[in-house]
Amino acid sequence: MILGLGTGSTAAFVVDKLGQLLSTGQLSNIIGIPTSKRTQEQAASLNIPLSTLDSHPHIDLAIDGADEVDPNLDLVKGRGGALLCEKMVEAASSSFIIVADDSKLVSGLGGSGLAMPVEVVQFCWKYNLNPIKDGFGAGKEISALEGVVEHGLFLGMATSVIIAGKTGVEIMTK
Ligand code: A5P
Repeated sequence: MILGLGTGSTAAFVVDKLGQLLSTGQLSNIIGIPTSKRTQEQAASLNIPLSTLDSHPHIDLAIDGADEVDPNLDLVKGRGGALLCEKMVEAASSSFIIVADDSKLVSGLGGSGLAMPVEVVQFCWKYNLNPIKDGFGAGKEISALEGVVEHGLFLGMATSVIIAGKTGVEIMTK
């Protein structure tokens, strides 16, 4: 299996568990595609076999965290600073599972009240601040701004979401 490895504090638990299951032989034949240098270093330290999207453009499954999850399984991601590589890997994945705690659930994207991450080129980065602030929810409009690399709206990408809460674990599917 070619497995996309997410980035963030929740995804780090997945990488730890994967390393453990591989080391005990409970899992085998898995190649990880990390979505950040942080994840690459963590996975390498656990002896998880790694490769790249260039070498494996078709990924079977990606597992990652999220900053916001709405009832349609649409997401805000990227507050951990890895959204471009995450989106590339996760868009190339046949299945994409989110793992999160119930603090990430919102009734609509933007519900957390926190800023939506947008990756921009460094040159004159303040130039786009006002249009971006007013453009929440308009992914295509944000992407169309010169200087924007990618935004943190992950729409229609997640195939299921595993939410942990005080009363247990809930699986959300479409
Ligand atoms: C990384 O860029 C992000 O998309 C993270 O996956 C997201 O911010 C969730 O991170 P935590 O699990 O640390 O909350």
